Amino acid sequence: MKTSIALDVNGEEKEINVSPDTPLLYVLRNNLQLNGPKFGCGLEQCGACFVLLDGEAQPSCRLPVSAATGKKITTLEGLAHKNGKLHVVQEAFITEQAAQCGYCLNGLIMGSVALLNKNSAPSTAEIKTALEKNICRCGVHTRAIKAVKRAASQKNQD
Ligand code: FES
Ligand code: FES
Repeated sequence: MKTSIALDVNGEEKEINVSPDTPLLYVLRNNLQLNGPKFGCGLEQCGACFVLLDGEAQPSCRLPVSAATGKKITTLEGLAHKNGKLHVVQEAFITEQAAQCGYCLNGLIMGSVALLNKNSAPSTAEIKTALEKNICRCGVHTRAIKAVKRAASQKNQD
């Protein structure tokens, strides 16, 4: 049965009328038109649907929307600055051309942002561990690692 649910998405309060067991991903994409997070496997196995929940990168494809209430939800759309300037991680992925088809890109970027918020200078091994849940069929991981390192050094200069 549908019910009114309040969510904090990208710093804005949103009110939606959905069944509480609707996956958060569906609510973001279908109700809020936030299409950064992608549907890949639908089984919490590929990372395409990652969002930040209170700063942690989490899959949203199976998480009931009711479990996201009271948490700060950040999607890819919420990373850029108010003036439109992209997040340093987004800039770094562009500079390193760390994408082919781009389908996994949302997850790789959200995972990288979460990592750099906790660890400002991660090693290659730490980056690999942080992004091990992000499957990329096109094989951009080497460039993604370079992008995370570029973003870290950029962030540390700012
Ligand atoms: S679509 Fe959510 S982890 Fe694959
Ligand atoms: S760029 Fe195609 S799946 Fe990663």
